[in-house]
Amino acid sequence: MRITVAGAGNVGLVTAVCLADAGHQVTCVDTQKEKIEMLEKGHSPFFEPGLEPLLEKTLSNGKLRFTTNPKLAYSDAEIIFIAVGTPAKKDGSADLSYIYAVSYSIANNIENNVIVCTKSTVPVGTNDEIKQIFQYGKPRHLKVDVVANPEFLREGSAIMDFYLGDRIIVGADNPEAAAIMEQLYLPLKIPIIVTDIRSAEMIKYASNAFLATKISFINEIANLCEKVGANIDEVAYGVGKDKRIGESFLQAGIGYGGSCFPKDTKALVQLAGNVKHPFELLESVIKVNQHQHSLLVVKAKEMMDSLKGKKAAILGLAFKPETDDIREAASITIIRELLEEGATVTAYDPIAIPNAHKLFGNSIEYTTNIRQALKDADFAIIATEWEQIKHLPLDTFAVCMKEPIVLDGRNCYCIKDIQRYPITYVSIGRPVISKVKPMSIK
Ligand SMILES: NC(=O)c1ccc[n+]([C@@H]2O[C@H](COP(=O)([O-])OP(=O)(O)OC[C@H]3O[C@@H](n4cnc5c(N)ncnc54)[C@H](O)[C@@H]3O)[C@@H](O)[C@H]2O)c1
Repeated sequence: MRITVAGAGNVGLVTAVCLADAGHQVTCVDTQKEKIEMLEKGHSPFFEPGLEPLLEKTLSNGKLRFTTNPKLAYSDAEIIFIAVGTPAKKDGSADLSYIYAVSYSIANNIENNVIVCTKSTVPVGTNDEIKQIFQYGKPRHLKVDVVANPEFLREGSAIMDFYLGDRIIVGADNPEAAAIMEQLYLPLKIPIIVTDIRSAEMIKYASNAFLATKISFINEIANLCEKVGANIDEVAYGVGKDKRIGESFLQAGIGYGGSCFPKDTKALVQLAGNVKHPFELLESVIKVNQHQHSLLVVKAKEMMDSLKGKKAAILGLAFKPETDDIREAASITIIRELLEEGATVTAYDPIAIPNAHKLFGNSIEYTTNIRQALKDADFAIIATEWEQIKHLPLDTFAVCMKEPIVLDGRNCYCIKDIQRYPITYVSIGRPVISKVKPMSIK
């Protein structure tokens, strides 16, 4: 099929490359000229495992092309995927300006009947608004079907998720359009669930809200474990073995981040508010997460009285491993708060430094070498569970740091292993190991 993907971000680029690899003729359009120029040379503007080889392959076999030209992109497409951003506005609601802009651009440039398929995460009712744009904005003789097809890929495993996703949601009010989408996805052998458009939109928000709830829930249990002398490792294992609950998303830590959970939970709260339905449960989930991002700075302050003049090593900037995305990462809150306290920061990350530099400039130091970050540090905070950090020989902390005080926000190490080293170790929901000097953790 002739497919166009609007937006060459994490979702759009992966979708375009994978559909081209499946044999479709794909055009990927973006408004950012530099991004498109980079992509035309076979370079991805962000890190995603396995993406660049597929990009090079589909470019060289002529299945994929990039453009900034909407006429070229939309005029003869059979299916157009919308994968532009829907960032949070100041009040937490979704900014739909990119969605509207791209819809008008499609309406102005199509020359054939087309299915417009929204992959972006949009509040319930948005696809009805998109339909209105096409109803009045497109050439009269053309037919446009709007389909909601929310995306569930995870950064860091996006290619695998495209081929091995748990389900594909197709929200359509025209069975013919739904059938074409089913045909498109059939070779993937992933269960396809066809719903009405509004339910499809809600499935995406409900899924992310549920996962965020699971994370904040286990984090609150972890905080409680610390106060009552239980160990979250054992608690989460025991809880997760219940098949009704499941083991995934029960890893306690300093909270979720990234481009989806924070904005989607806030947008759902706003959406509920708009229909006079206070979503108190989700409001608490968000609050717990914000608290969790700051938790280790609070603990560091309790341990050291003042952080002024202290040298902090931040291990991990990305919101999770295998991505260079730092959007809403816990590391951002941590670094901001440490700087406010007068600490100096050296941050380690294997790939996210360029993105962090855009945010923090020269106010902190950066390194891709863990030992360099730890050198002469008064304390270290682990913010991302990179394999490089998890596999660090534990004597490194004592060897490199001025004071081997490690605050582990991702529970990277086994408590029993830590006990063999002269390290003071504070993690989430587990006993404090105090080897350096006595301290009181509240
Ligand atoms: N990132 C994820 O892991 C993920 C997962 C599932 C769903 N989503 C959702 O998918 C959507 C896209 O997310 P993303 O992370 O890929 O966003 P992104 O910010 O990485 O990329 C969006 C791209 O759209 C481009 N764009 C903006 N206006 C355009 C226009 N008029 N025409 C063409 N391109 C335009 C931007 O230049 C940018 O390159 C969001 O709604 C997001 O919530 C994201």
